Amino acid sequence: MPVNDFVDFYSLQLTDEEFKRLSSLIYQESGIKLPPIKKVMLQSRLQKRLKHLGITSFKEYIDFLFSREGFDSEIIHMLDVVSTNKTDFFREPAHFEFLSQEFLPQYYLQNKTAPLKLWSAGCSSGEEPYTLAMVLLEFAENHPGFSFSIFASDISTRILQTAIDAIYKEEKVEVIPLTLKRKYLLRSKDRQNPTVKIAPHVRAKVNFARLNLMDSQYDTKDIFDIVFCRNVLIYFDRLTQESVINKLCSRIKPGGYLILGHSESILSMNVALKQVKPTIYRKV
Ligand SMILES: C[S@@+](CC[C@H](N)C(=O)[O-])C[C@H]1O[C@@H](n2cnc3c(N)ncnc32)[C@H](O)[C@@H]1O
Repeated sequence: MPVNDFVDFYSLQLTDEEFKRLSSLIYQESGIKLPPIKKVMLQSRLQKRLKHLGITSFKEYIDFLFSREGFDSEIIHMLDVVSTNKTDFFREPAHFEFLSQEFLPQYYLQNKTAPLKLWSAGCSSGEEPYTLAMVLLEFAENHPGFSFSIFASDISTRILQTAIDAIYKEEKVEVIPLTLKRKYLLRSKDRQNPTVKIAPHVRAKVNFARLNLMDSQYDTKDIFDIVFCRNVLIYFDRLTQESVINKLCSRIKPGGYLILGHSESILSMNVALKQVKPTIYRKV
Protein backbone atom coordinates (compact mmCIF):
# COMPACT_ATOMS: atom_id res chain seq x y z
CA MET A 1 0.00 0.00 0.00
CA PRO A 2 1.44 3.44 -0.87
CA VAL A 3 2.44 5.66 2.06
CA ASN A 4 -0.23 8.18 1.02
CA ASP A 5 -2.92 5.67 1.98
CA PHE A 6 -1.94 6.01 5.63
CA VAL A 7 -3.25 8.78 7.87
CA ASP A 8 -1.55 9.70 11.10
CA PHE A 9 -4.75 9.81 13.20
CA TYR A 10 -2.75 10.18 16.39
CA SER A 11 -1.36 13.57 15.35
CA LEU A 12 -4.75 15.11 14.61
CA GLN A 13 -5.28 18.13 16.89
CA LEU A 14 -8.52 19.65 18.17
CA THR A 15 -8.45 23.45 18.02
CA ASP A 16 -9.74 25.40 21.04
CA GLU A 17 -12.74 26.45 18.98
CA GLU A 18 -13.56 22.85 18.01
CA PHE A 19 -13.17 21.75 21.63
CA LYS A 20 -15.61 24.48 22.72
CA ARG A 21 -18.21 23.38 20.17
CA LEU A 22 -17.91 19.74 21.14
CA SER A 23 -17.87 20.31 24.89
CA SER A 24 -20.98 22.48 24.79
CA LEU A 25 -22.78 19.86 22.68
CA ILE A 26 -21.71 17.16 25.16
CA TYR A 27 -22.94 19.28 28.08
CA GLN A 28 -26.26 19.95 26.39
CA GLU A 29 -26.84 16.29 25.52
CA SER A 30 -25.47 14.48 28.58
CA GLY A 31 -24.94 17.03 31.37
CA ILE A 32 -21.24 16.05 31.42
CA LYS A 33 -18.99 19.07 31.95
CA LEU A 34 -15.65 19.01 30.16
CA PRO A 35 -13.39 21.84 31.37
CA PRO A 36 -10.56 22.96 29.01
CA ILE A 37 -8.12 20.71 30.88
CA LYS A 38 -9.98 17.73 29.35
CA LYS A 39 -9.15 18.77 25.77
CA VAL A 40 -6.29 16.29 25.36
CA MET A 41 -8.42 13.48 26.78
CA LEU A 42 -11.27 14.26 24.36
CA GLN A 43 -8.83 14.59 21.46
CA SER A 44 -7.22 11.21 22.06
CA ARG A 45 -10.53 9.40 22.57
CA LEU A 46 -11.97 10.96 19.42
CA GLN A 47 -8.90 10.09 17.35
CA LYS A 48 -9.93 6.44 17.73
CA ARG A 49 -13.47 7.27 16.67
CA LEU A 50 -12.24 9.15 13.56
CA LYS A 51 -10.02 6.22 12.68
CA HIS A 52 -12.98 3.87 13.00
CA LEU A 53 -15.09 6.08 10.72
CA GLY A 54 -12.26 6.69 8.25
CA ILE A 55 -12.60 10.46 8.75
CA THR A 56 -9.28 12.25 8.39
CA SER A 57 -9.78 15.59 10.16
CA PHE A 58 -11.63 16.96 13.17
CA LYS A 59 -13.22 19.58 10.93
CA GLU A 60 -14.75 16.85 8.77
CA TYR A 61 -15.90 14.97 11.89
CA ILE A 62 -17.55 18.06 13.39
CA ASP A 63 -19.27 18.89 10.09
CA PHE A 64 -20.61 15.33 10.03
CA LEU A 65 -21.66 15.41 13.70
CA PHE A 66 -23.53 18.70 13.31
CA SER A 67 -25.22 17.66 10.07
CA ARG A 68 -28.81 16.42 10.26
CA GLU A 69 -28.04 12.79 9.21
CA GLY A 70 -24.76 12.69 11.10
CA PHE A 71 -26.22 13.90 14.38
CA ASP A 72 -28.77 11.11 14.77
CA SER A 73 -26.31 8.35 14.03
CA GLU A 74 -23.22 9.79 15.69
CA ILE A 75 -24.34 11.43 18.93
CA ILE A 76 -24.69 8.10 20.77
CA HIS A 77 -21.13 7.11 19.77
CA MET A 78 -19.85 10.54 20.69
CA LEU A 79 -21.34 10.19 24.19
CA ASP A 80 -19.90 6.66 24.44
CA VAL A 81 -16.49 8.17 23.86
CA VAL A 82 -16.74 10.78 26.61
CA SER A 83 -18.34 8.78 29.41
CA THR A 84 -16.10 7.67 32.26
CA ASN A 85 -17.06 4.17 33.28
CA LYS A 86 -14.91 3.35 36.30
CA THR A 87 -16.75 0.92 38.55
CA ASP A 88 -16.22 -2.19 40.70
CA PHE A 89 -18.06 -5.04 42.34
CA PHE A 90 -18.96 -4.15 45.95
CA ARG A 91 -17.77 -0.57 45.40
CA GLU A 92 -18.47 1.49 48.52
CA PRO A 93 -19.42 -1.59 50.55
CA ALA A 94 -21.22 0.35 53.31
CA HIS A 95 -24.19 0.68 50.94
CA PHE A 96 -24.50 -3.08 50.52
CA GLU A 97 -24.14 -3.57 54.30
CA PHE A 98 -26.96 -1.06 54.83
CA LEU A 99 -29.06 -3.00 52.36
CA SER A 100 -28.56 -6.47 53.82
CA GLN A 101 -28.35 -5.57 57.51
CA GLU A 102 -30.83 -2.72 57.89
CA PHE A 103 -33.06 -2.16 54.91
CA LEU A 104 -33.93 -5.73 53.86
CA PRO A 105 -34.88 -7.16 57.30
CA GLN A 106 -37.17 -4.16 57.85
CA TYR A 107 -38.65 -4.36 54.36
CA TYR A 108 -39.33 -8.08 54.75
CA LEU A 109 -41.07 -7.56 58.10
CA GLN A 110 -43.40 -4.99 56.57
CA ASN A 111 -43.91 -6.25 53.01
CA LYS A 112 -42.97 -9.95 52.97
CA THR A 113 -43.89 -10.86 49.40
CA ALA A 114 -44.28 -7.50 47.61
CA PRO A 115 -41.52 -7.56 44.97
CA LEU A 116 -38.71 -5.15 45.83
CA LYS A 117 -37.80 -2.83 42.93
CA LEU A 118 -34.33 -1.39 42.51
CA TRP A 119 -32.79 0.91 39.92
CA SER A 120 -29.10 1.24 39.23
CA ALA A 121 -28.98 4.57 37.32
CA GLY A 122 -25.60 5.00 35.60
CA CYS A 123 -24.81 1.29 35.96
CA SER A 124 -21.70 1.34 33.73
CA SER A 125 -20.42 -2.17 32.86
CA GLY A 126 -22.79 -3.93 35.26
CA GLU A 127 -20.73 -4.47 38.43
CA GLU A 128 -23.16 -2.41 40.54
CA PRO A 129 -26.44 -4.11 39.49
CA TYR A 130 -24.84 -7.59 39.61
CA THR A 131 -23.53 -6.87 43.12
CA LEU A 132 -27.08 -5.88 44.08
CA ALA A 133 -28.45 -9.07 42.52
CA MET A 134 -26.00 -11.23 44.49
CA VAL A 135 -26.81 -9.46 47.79
CA LEU A 136 -30.55 -9.82 47.19
CA LEU A 137 -30.30 -13.47 46.10
CA GLU A 138 -28.43 -14.17 49.34
CA PHE A 139 -31.26 -12.58 51.31
CA ALA A 140 -33.91 -14.45 49.29
CA GLU A 141 -32.30 -17.77 50.18
CA ASN A 142 -33.38 -17.46 53.82
CA HIS A 143 -36.56 -15.43 53.42
CA PRO A 144 -39.43 -17.34 51.82
CA GLY A 145 -41.56 -15.39 49.39
CA PHE A 146 -39.06 -12.52 49.02
CA SER A 147 -38.63 -11.44 45.40
CA PHE A 148 -37.05 -8.52 43.57
CA SER A 149 -36.17 -7.04 40.21
CA ILE A 150 -33.39 -4.67 39.18
CA PHE A 151 -33.53 -2.11 36.40
CA ALA A 152 -30.10 -0.90 35.26
CA SER A 153 -29.52 1.98 32.86
CA ASP A 154 -26.73 4.02 31.35
CA ILE A 155 -26.28 6.60 28.61
CA SER A 156 -23.55 4.59 26.90
CA THR A 157 -24.68 1.78 24.59
CA ARG A 158 -21.10 0.48 24.39
CA ILE A 159 -20.84 0.03 28.16
CA LEU A 160 -24.35 -1.43 28.38
CA GLN A 161 -23.31 -4.14 25.93
CA THR A 162 -20.38 -5.02 28.24
CA ALA A 163 -22.87 -5.20 31.13
CA ILE A 164 -25.20 -7.48 29.18
CA ASP A 165 -22.29 -9.73 28.11
CA ALA A 166 -21.41 -10.00 31.83
CA ILE A 167 -17.87 -11.29 31.24
CA TYR A 168 -15.14 -9.89 33.49
CA LYS A 169 -11.40 -10.37 33.95
CA GLU A 170 -10.72 -12.62 36.93
CA GLU A 171 -8.89 -9.89 38.86
CA LYS A 172 -12.07 -7.77 38.74
CA VAL A 173 -13.96 -10.30 40.84
CA GLU A 174 -11.25 -10.82 43.48
CA VAL A 175 -13.20 -8.61 45.86
CA ILE A 176 -16.25 -10.92 45.75
CA PRO A 177 -16.34 -13.36 48.71
CA LEU A 178 -15.58 -16.95 47.73
CA THR A 179 -18.98 -18.24 48.89
CA LEU A 180 -20.70 -15.83 46.50
CA LYS A 181 -18.28 -16.58 43.65
CA ARG A 182 -19.14 -20.27 43.94
CA LYS A 183 -22.85 -19.59 43.70
CA TYR A 184 -23.03 -16.75 41.23
CA LEU A 185 -20.03 -16.84 38.85
CA LEU A 186 -18.85 -19.22 36.14
CA ARG A 187 -15.12 -19.52 35.29
CA SER A 188 -13.88 -19.67 31.71
CA LYS A 189 -12.16 -22.89 30.63
CA ASP A 190 -9.45 -20.84 28.92
CA ARG A 191 -6.86 -20.51 31.70
CA GLN A 192 -4.52 -18.47 29.46
CA ASN A 193 -7.07 -15.67 29.50
CA PRO A 194 -8.95 -16.18 32.77
CA THR A 195 -12.39 -14.58 32.78
CA VAL A 196 -15.64 -15.13 34.64
CA LYS A 197 -19.23 -14.81 33.52
CA ILE A 198 -22.13 -13.91 35.77
CA ALA A 199 -24.36 -16.98 36.12
CA PRO A 200 -27.65 -16.97 34.17
CA HIS A 201 -29.89 -16.90 37.28
CA VAL A 202 -28.15 -13.68 38.41
CA ARG A 203 -28.28 -12.08 34.96
CA ALA A 204 -31.99 -12.89 34.77
CA LYS A 205 -32.63 -10.56 37.72
CA VAL A 206 -31.32 -7.47 35.89
CA ASN A 207 -32.95 -5.63 32.98
CA PHE A 208 -30.68 -3.23 31.11
CA ALA A 209 -31.78 -0.26 28.99
CA ARG A 210 -30.32 2.99 27.70
CA LEU A 211 -31.60 6.00 29.62
CA ASN A 212 -30.13 9.49 29.49
CA LEU A 213 -30.47 11.22 32.87
CA MET A 214 -30.73 14.50 30.95
CA ASP A 215 -34.12 13.45 29.55
CA SER A 216 -36.89 15.78 30.69
CA GLN A 217 -38.60 12.91 32.54
CA TYR A 218 -37.83 9.27 33.20
CA ASP A 219 -40.35 6.87 31.71
CA THR A 220 -39.37 3.81 33.71
CA LYS A 221 -41.88 0.97 33.92
CA ASP A 222 -41.67 0.90 37.72
CA ILE A 223 -41.59 3.21 40.71
CA PHE A 224 -38.69 2.06 42.87
CA ASP A 225 -38.02 1.23 46.52
CA ILE A 226 -34.34 2.14 46.14
CA VAL A 227 -32.40 4.01 43.47
CA PHE A 228 -28.63 3.72 43.33
CA CYS A 229 -27.18 6.67 41.42
CA ARG A 230 -23.56 6.59 42.50
CA ASN A 231 -20.61 8.42 40.99
CA VAL A 232 -22.66 9.80 38.13
CA LEU A 233 -23.65 13.23 39.43
CA ILE A 234 -20.00 14.23 39.92
CA TYR A 235 -19.78 14.87 36.18
CA PHE A 236 -22.71 17.34 36.28
CA ASP A 237 -22.88 20.93 37.52
CA ARG A 238 -24.91 21.79 40.62
CA LEU A 239 -28.12 22.82 38.83
CA THR A 240 -28.10 19.71 36.66
CA GLN A 241 -27.49 17.55 39.76
CA GLU A 242 -30.50 19.07 41.50
CA SER A 243 -32.73 18.58 38.48
CA VAL A 244 -31.59 14.95 38.04
CA ILE A 245 -32.18 14.22 41.75
CA ASN A 246 -35.71 15.65 41.54
CA LYS A 247 -36.47 13.54 38.48
CA LEU A 248 -35.07 10.44 40.24
CA CYS A 249 -37.23 11.25 43.30
CA SER A 250 -40.31 11.23 41.08
CA ARG A 251 -39.54 7.53 40.41
CA ILE A 252 -39.03 6.61 44.09
CA LYS A 253 -41.87 5.41 46.34
CA PRO A 254 -42.67 7.57 49.37
CA GLY A 255 -40.34 6.38 52.13
CA GLY A 256 -37.99 4.84 49.52
CA TYR A 257 -34.27 5.53 49.30
CA LEU A 258 -31.77 7.29 47.04
CA ILE A 259 -28.15 6.24 47.39
CA LEU A 260 -25.39 8.50 46.01
CA GLY A 261 -21.62 8.05 45.63
CA HIS A 262 -19.17 8.93 48.42
CA SER A 263 -18.28 12.35 47.05
CA GLU A 264 -21.83 13.40 46.14
CA SER A 265 -24.34 15.18 48.36
CA ILE A 266 -27.66 17.03 48.30
CA LEU A 267 -26.36 19.81 50.53
CA SER A 268 -28.36 23.03 50.03
CA MET A 269 -30.50 21.52 47.26
CA ASN A 270 -34.24 21.88 47.09
CA VAL A 271 -35.12 18.16 47.06
CA ALA A 272 -37.63 16.02 49.00
CA LEU A 273 -35.00 13.89 50.73
CA LYS A 274 -33.76 13.44 54.28
CA GLN A 275 -30.29 12.09 55.00
CA VAL A 276 -30.34 8.89 57.08
CA LYS A 277 -26.64 8.03 56.81
CA PRO A 278 -23.76 9.48 54.81
CA THR A 279 -24.84 9.40 51.12
CA ILE A 280 -28.07 7.49 51.97
CA TYR A 281 -31.25 9.55 51.64
CA ARG A 282 -34.92 8.81 52.29
CA LYS A 283 -37.77 10.32 50.28
CA VAL A 284 -40.01 12.39 52.54
C1 LIG B 1 -18.19 6.35 37.01
S1 LIG B 1 -19.52 5.42 36.35
C2 LIG B 1 -20.35 4.91 37.85
C3 LIG B 1 -20.81 3.47 37.80
C4 LIG B 1 -21.46 2.95 39.07
N1 LIG B 1 -22.69 3.64 39.37
C5 LIG B 1 -20.51 3.01 40.24
O1 LIG B 1 -20.68 3.83 41.14
O2 LIG B 1 -19.55 2.24 40.25
C6 LIG B 1 -20.60 6.70 35.73
C7 LIG B 1 -21.58 6.20 34.70
O3 LIG B 1 -22.56 7.23 34.46
C8 LIG B 1 -22.90 7.21 33.10
N2 LIG B 1 -23.49 8.51 32.71
C9 LIG B 1 -22.87 9.70 32.52
N3 LIG B 1 -23.72 10.63 32.12
C10 LIG B 1 -24.94 10.03 32.05
C11 LIG B 1 -26.25 10.47 31.68
N4 LIG B 1 -26.47 11.74 31.28
N5 LIG B 1 -27.26 9.58 31.72
C12 LIG B 1 -27.05 8.30 32.10
N6 LIG B 1 -25.83 7.81 32.45
C13 LIG B 1 -24.79 8.67 32.43
C14 LIG B 1 -21.58 6.92 32.39
O4 LIG B 1 -21.77 6.40 31.09
C15 LIG B 1 -20.93 5.93 33.36
O5 LIG B 1 -21.14 4.60 32.97
